[in-house]
Formats: sequence, C-alpha cells, structure tokens
Amino acid sequence: MPTYNRADLAFERGEGAWLWTGDGRRFLDFGSGIATASIGHAHPHLVQAIAEQAARVMHTSNLYRIPQAERLAARLVETSFADSVFFCNSGAEANEGMIKAVRKYHAEQGHPERFVTICFEGAFHGRTLATLAATGNEKYLAGFGPPVQGFKHVPFGNMNALRDAIDGTTAAIMVEPIQGEGGVRPASLEFLRQLRAAADEFGLLLALDEVQTGMGRSGKLWAHQWAGIEPDVMSSAKGIGGGFPLGAILAKERVAQYLKPGTHGSTYGGNPLACAAGNAVLDVILAPGFLDGVDRVARHLWRGMLDLAHRHPAVVEGVQGAGLLLGLKLRPEISNGEMQNAAVAEGLLTVAAGMNVLRLAPPLIITEAEADEALSLLERTCLRCTPSQARDAAK
Ligand SMILES: Cc1ncc(COP(=O)(O)O)c(C=O)c1O
Repeated sequence: MPTYNRADLAFERGEGAWLWTGDGRRFLDFGSGIATASIGHAHPHLVQAIAEQAARVMHTSNLYRIPQAERLAARLVETSFADSVFFCNSGAEANEGMIKAVRKYHAEQGHPERFVTICFEGAFHGRTLATLAATGNEKYLAGFGPPVQGFKHVPFGNMNALRDAIDGTTAAIMVEPIQGEGGVRPASLEFLRQLRAAADEFGLLLALDEVQTGMGRSGKLWAHQWAGIEPDVMSSAKGIGGGFPLGAILAKERVAQYLKPGTHGSTYGGNPLACAAGNAVLDVILAPGFLDGVDRVARHLWRGMLDLAHRHPAVVEGVQGAGLLLGLKLRPEISNGEMQNAAVAEGLLTVAAGMNVLRLAPPLIITEAEADEALSLLERTCLRCTPSQARDAAK
C-alpha cells in the first residue's frame, strides 16, 4: 500500500554502520532503520543468536513457558526500575499495552473514572487507534473516525499547563524523554523530575515512552536515568531487538499485578526467536564500557555538529537532542526532505523529523572515525543546500 514515500534505494547487505545497495553503492547509515539497528548491521553475535535459535525453535506461543523470554525479562528487571515485563512486537503495541496498564491500575484501585492520560504536543506514540489518540497530531488522526477517548495534550515542557490539566479523571502522564519524531526535542531533566513529583502528588502513574530513547541511545540504558527518576511503567521497542521486531512493557509490580490472564496478550509477543535477538543485543549493550563508549562518541559527534552549525548558518539553525539521537534544526528556507536527499547524494542516510529537523540516530557501535566521516558528509550536504545568495555572500 502507498503508506510510505520511499526513496529509490534498496540495500542488499550491511555491516556495522554501513549499507550497500545491489549495484554496489555504499552508504553510512546514520538512521539505523529509524533508530532501530542499535548494534549495527549484521552484528556477528546477533546474527549467530538468531540463526541458532531459528534452527532450534522460533515460535511456541505464550501458552507455554519461554526460557529465552524469562531470561530477557529477568535481565531487563535487573537493569531497570521494573519488576515485571510484557513482550510484544512493536512500539505502538508496547504503548497500547502501557495505556491499558495504567487504566487497569486505576480501575482495580476502585477508580475506573480515572482513565485519562495526559500527553504532550509534539509527541509520537504510534499508529494504532489508541496510540494515535495519544499522539494527538490532527494530521495523523484525520479520516480515522472519532479518536479514542481519554487523552489530553499540553505543551511539552510546560508544568503549569500540565498541573492545570490534572483532574479527577487523570490516570497518568505519558512522555518521551526526548521527542523523536516530533523534532528530536529533549525534555529537560528538571521537567522529568517535576513530572515525577506531580505524578506522586496526585496519585498518577508516570508512563515513559522509551521506544526511541531507550536501549542505550542516550548513553545510559534508559534515557530517564539521566534525570535520576523512575517511571511506574515504560515502553520499549526499536533498538531492543537490534532490527528484529520486539517490544516490551516494563512495569512496577503495583501496576503489573493487575494484568492477569485474559486482560492482555500477544500471539507472537516474546517468542523464542525475538527474545534470542533481545538477549544478544543486551549482551553487547551491557558489556563493560559499552555505554561509556556511546556517551563518548555522542559527545564527539555533538561537538562536531555544533561546529558544523556554526560554519553553515545559512542552512542550520541549531543542534538539539541527546546521546546518539541528535537533530540539525534547519532554517525555514531549507526543508529537511531536501537536506535528507542531499545527504543521500553524498552517501549518508539520515531521517527527517518534525519541526524541520534532520535526525541522526546512528547505530550505537559507531566509532569516532565514523562520526567524523558523517560530519564531513554533512559538511558537503550543507554546501549542496546552501542557498546561492548565501554562497555568493560568503565568497
Ligand atoms: C517514541 C515512539 N513511540 C512509539 C513509536 C511507534 O513504534 P512502532 O513504529 O514500532 O510501532 C515510535 C516510532 O517511531 C516512537 O518513536
């Protein structure tokens, strides 16, 4: 179906941060399949884990125990705030389940009227009916009938508006620590702390969408850890499977306890193959020093991007984001689609984001040399996009 405006590129193979088309052209992949190929393409450990598991058993269903899922859940619990994990297949499915979990929590507490989740303008939570309503973007909602009830939106970063929106129907606050699709806009750490405090004050659940920001992308395993807070429930997907479809809801026991048999489910969710992939990805990300390396290369890239922005004021307005989720905010006369195409022409893959931002979300395994290579390709991309008057003025 014509759901995507696809670039006329088809990749035949990948290795680390690089992709090759069938006709032999090589691209530096700073999009990672939209922040998903977290440990790069064809990582030998991930390839081996998937191949070995596929040869043994791929799918058995949740009617039986799944040791690979039990192991992955135990490791996620050990390395997060959570007591319990539910596996699914995508970010939207994880968020859909997270929304159900917060509603169920209040219903079981004797307050079924508390079913409203407060979300933020500029959010992106997925394409199912409930996650579209949580996203709240009129453009995405148009044509799909009445939006699912139970979502309110307030400006991102505005504590007064958030507090004003809380009433007797409020169940939760749902937020991305860095708005990804919305324009690579980080919540300030103080804002995240204030959300935690407001949730505590009003008996709400804090539900974090770490689909894009989690699994090491920020330089910590979970982006909220930079703020020193814990959510009550959190969604994960994208990088968690390293390119294999996998999603998860992580929750405190006080939330998870109510998701009893019959309340929620997924045929594929947490199958042996997906969880073998998830365990292999975790092996890499939790290896000693790996996240420090992500932080280091991210800071190196950030400095280079600031420099680039400084040298190309006719194209770039600023740099935003955190960790390896970075954005170049472009000047209004340069569209991010145009810049994305220009980057492709230079051999660099990026992803457009909202608010005219060009997003960089490279695999977490990139080296400083690869970051430098991306910067020099971006340099050439900026030159391609520089309006002719600005070019003439600089001569
Ligand atoms: C923050 C966030 N939540 C949810 C989703 C939806 O994930 P999926 O496309 O896997 O359903 C995305 C996808 O871009 C996302 O960035």
